[in-house]
Amino acid sequence: AGRGWGHGKGLAFGAIAPQAAATDAFVVPEGYEWSPIIRWGDPILPGGRAFDITRQTPEQQAKQFGYNVDYLDILPADPGDVRPRGKTKRGRRGLLVSNHEYTNAGIMFDDSYDAATRRAIERAAWGLSVVEVTRDREGTPWTYSRLSRFNRRITVDTEFHVDGPAAGSYLMRTVEDPTGTRVRGTLNNCAGGTTPWGTVVSGEENYNANFRVSGKDPRDARYGLQNKATSYGWELDDPRFDGNNPGYEYENHRFGWIVEVDPYEPDEAPVKHTALGRFKHEGANVILSKRGHAVAYMGDDERFDYVYKFVSAERMRPGNSRWARRHNKTLLSSGDLYVARFTGDSPASEIDGSGAVPSDGGFDGTGEWIALVKDGESQVDGMTLEEVLVFTRLAADAVGATKMDRPEDVEPHPLTGRVYVACTNNSDRGKEGKEGATEPNPRNSNRDGHVVEIIEDGGDQTATTFTWNLLLVAGDPSVNDSTYFSGFPADKVSPISCPDNLAFDADGNLWISTDGQPSTIQKCDGLFKVTLDGPRRGNVEQFLSVPRDAETCGPVIDSRDAMVYVNVQHPGEDGTFAAQNSFFPDYLDEGERAPAGAWRGPRPSTIQVYREGAGQRPGHGPGKG
Ligand code: FEO
Ligand code: CA
Ligand code: CA
Ligand code: CA
Repeated sequence: AGRGWGHGKGLAFGAIAPQAAATDAFVVPEGYEWSPIIRWGDPILPGGRAFDITRQTPEQQAKQFGYNVDYLDILPADPGDVRPRGKTKRGRRGLLVSNHEYTNAGIMFDDSYDAATRRAIERAAWGLSVVEVTRDREGTPWTYSRLSRFNRRITVDTEFHVDGPAAGSYLMRTVEDPTGTRVRGTLNNCAGGTTPWGTVVSGEENYNANFRVSGKDPRDARYGLQNKATSYGWELDDPRFDGNNPGYEYENHRFGWIVEVDPYEPDEAPVKHTALGRFKHEGANVILSKRGHAVAYMGDDERFDYVYKFVSAERMRPGNSRWARRHNKTLLSSGDLYVARFTGDSPASEIDGSGAVPSDGGFDGTGEWIALVKDGESQVDGMTLEEVLVFTRLAADAVGATKMDRPEDVEPHPLTGRVYVACTNNSDRGKEGKEGATEPNPRNSNRDGHVVEIIEDGGDQTATTFTWNLLLVAGDPSVNDSTYFSGFPADKVSPISCPDNLAFDADGNLWISTDGQPSTIQKCDGLFKVTLDGPRRGNVEQFLSVPRDAETCGPVIDSRDAMVYVNVQHPGEDGTFAAQNSFFPDYLDEGERAPAGAWRGPRPSTIQVYREGAGQRPGHGPGKG
């Protein structure tokens, strides 16, 4: 990048070999080692017991770290020290924030739990956790604090405030909340972002899996909601999960939002921001415009859904006084909402769905941000402001937005302002009755996904026009000739498939974590560094590999400390309780025997990777001295 912040001690590494899909190991490069910071079931609140798979209760789970970890950050002790994630100086005390997207009941419970208890434990394992972490010196591994006034679990029972233009709307009211401003809980918290003012935003993604609806409102179908029993079965326990119950018709409208949590204010209710629209939010990532407006980029993770941008009406106030932070926490409450339209510059005849690069040498073109909401008013014919925000997918359909291949993380580069969109895959592209390949989504049956780079016109994050190109078209180049790495030789990259979460390091490189490689390129998922600048642009180097059946989530790249953090989600999810696929992270060393009666199974965990020898304790994993 060369503009003065490529000064980290750096994370030099030699790319690891891709790991075969059934490998149950967490693999890091030569010269690095790893350990868990915290695992599913570790107690974080007063009264929480040490994890015991045979004695789980809903009450215990609500005092423990939750299940399937997704978004992750470790915020510095002082919110004034928050920087773009690649640059934050984390010091010796921090606040670990993690999403818990969902649960894998099939590997969590033995036969001693009845169905209702299982469901109640599952509900308590969803949501988010905030946990204080400490260490003796920078660049060394963290230990979580079992008791701290900052430790917090947010679950499906935690009260949220609703704000923004749709708060209080008739579309948000239920018999339990006639004000339409207070919602119990958050669901399916997938990816997220850390704001410049030191809060965490988190996306409510596949909430349709938790609700049954009457089927009478055709708008619900656009969100995948159906009048049939859900696989989680929560409608058996709580009437709000079934829209057939009078008074709960609109409960499902109260999910599918971006939520904001202030980890520094443990007693403050988290907020659902209706101004950012309602869809299957993967997450949101906020960058400041030159004039200080908060600009949030967002993806709707569904086949043929859209990329969005929100621009705050107000500007950020500097500093971290209570007054400034209070103001900054309202930035996502009002502003303009846009959806992206991408136009290719090559003739349609050159985009044949094979992924062949068009004759001008790249997948690229221009684009515009089409306003759905501007200056507090709906820009969509026939839809009110509250309808645009509650049924944002329908609003975007109406204005001709570009159907993308499952946009996951949409993340602005903190130095260049360029925006990267991870399109994870779309097996339906080009299928009978479905849209075929377009220049921004150039492969039919797009199994491996691609990454779009957006360059806002004038370098202004609030611009309404942009240019774009594909940074890479993913796959295993040794067996797949439809890959593309910005011209970098395909035989020199690590194979990569199904990009999901994105991050940046202090040298300006992009890092990509993946979700789905075992079923596409038959490799375990992992974390990859991608060079963006210079002659090596497009080079992909694998940094780590996660265990069997797991996806890699929430990467944090700390060049200053030469450390990397990832959340390991759903390890061993295709196993059963009796025949587990993974023993992550509590692997035994060779020749070591598990204590008699000890439970052996996977625990979704937050993992830290550090230079060999940086740990106070040698070896991997907890409980070894
Ligand atoms: Fe929860 Fe889009 O991944
Ligand atoms: Ca082109
Ligand atoms: Ca994801
Ligand atoms: Ca995913």
